[in-house]
Amino acid sequence: MSKLWGGRFQKETNELTDEFNASISFDQEMYKEDIQGSIAHATMLGEQGIITPEEAQLICDGLKEILKEIEEGSIELDQSLEDIHMNIESLLTQKIGESGKKLHTGRSRNDQVATDFRLYIHNISNKILKELKQLLVLLLNKAESYLETLMPGYTHLQIAQPVTYAHYILCYYQMFYRDYNRFVQVKKESLRELPLGAGALAGTTYPLDRKLVADLLGFEGVKENSMDAVSDRDYAIDFLEACAVVMMHLSRFCEEIIIFNSSEFNFITLDDAFTTGSSIMPQKKNPDLAELIRGKTGRTYGNLIALLTTMKGLPLAYNKDMQEDKEPVIDSYKTVLNSLKIFQKMFETLKVNANRAREAMEFGFINATDVADYLVKNGLPFRDAHRVTGEIVIYCENKNKKISELNLDELSHFSPKFNEDVFSAINIDKIVETRDLIGGPSSKINKKLIEKYRKMIKSLD
Ligand code: ARG
Repeated sequence: MSKLWGGRFQKETNELTDEFNASISFDQEMYKEDIQGSIAHATMLGEQGIITPEEAQLICDGLKEILKEIEEGSIELDQSLEDIHMNIESLLTQKIGESGKKLHTGRSRNDQVATDFRLYIHNISNKILKELKQLLVLLLNKAESYLETLMPGYTHLQIAQPVTYAHYILCYYQMFYRDYNRFVQVKKESLRELPLGAGALAGTTYPLDRKLVADLLGFEGVKENSMDAVSDRDYAIDFLEACAVVMMHLSRFCEEIIIFNSSEFNFITLDDAFTTGSSIMPQKKNPDLAELIRGKTGRTYGNLIALLTTMKGLPLAYNKDMQEDKEPVIDSYKTVLNSLKIFQKMFETLKVNANRAREAMEFGFINATDVADYLVKNGLPFRDAHRVTGEIVIYCENKNKKISELNLDELSHFSPKFNEDVFSAINIDKIVETRDLIGGPSSKINKKLIEKYRKMIKSLD
């Protein structure tokens, strides 16, 4: 088929040129946005008298039919046409004849693709936001059922201090809430300024009403520099960054699920439906999904770096390099969406082995800080209390005992400040509840937070 831009060429392009140059295999994802953008452009051309109102109507009706036909699957896109923009325009001309050729008046594919891509990023951000919101609700529900369920907290993956499952889960809530806000920003930014009307790079002589097009497409305003309009991909980079960060959070969560699901820890058990077996070892039940989410995080970092690198040396304004912006975005979008979906199912169905986590807290001197704090409350400066407690830990290690198994005589040997009430002060089941300052793990604090977060989620847009 001859090219829409074939006029100045005396020879057909090489087959390899067409193949290498094309983006239709992936930018067809944006067919809806392309049609939406063209309908707004044609409506404005009609309003401004650049084309007749009848022609505008014909174009819009034709485009709507094409949309319907693509969605029904009754239209095959032509893979020999470079991209989705040329496909839609060519389908339109086939459908409505001569008037179809007027659609591209006052427009370049450079401002068209930038507009479509912004609309696309807006739409896919919405899909991710929907999943993130469901995940936030799930985390609150789970946290609520484990408000008093103790588990060891770690630093350096060494037993540190006791927390609760609720506190642990709410930590992830904070991360995903930040992700939610990050995608809200991306979504807002993508529709802040309309590129259409910038033409190839220097605007156009037609009396376009760019504000009208912005209104029709839901943009807040219009790009105030035509060169920036066609060369800006910051919004795509912002999207890729938000994707990389949410995957980093999911990956950390998955890493812990993998560790806690191991027979050595056994704090949780993954549901059979969300694990897989080994082809050789009959006993195996592997956390493949959690590992895959952790693994796929890498490609979302790669996608971000890929686009940053593509953009870094480009002279103004449009360069074909920028066609390379689509695949990373589509790939990160699909990776994040699928990971969020599968993660929720896996997390929802996993079983918490509360007894096992409680048992693990008996080792590793998890209440050592509370021994030191007890001494401080009885008048010892903290640094001295820290040293005394360290000596007690060595003594316990040598005797193979826990601190709570020492008697008052033994403790008094280390400091005269110990009294009988030390045993209740370092009781593992109590020390979480006494950490009831803002940010602490006590059930009272977290219960209030869950109520507050439930209200916040209701008002999320
Ligand atoms: N397929 C192209 C892209 O995605 C559309 C814009 C092409 N513009 C051009 N002057 N070749 O970037």
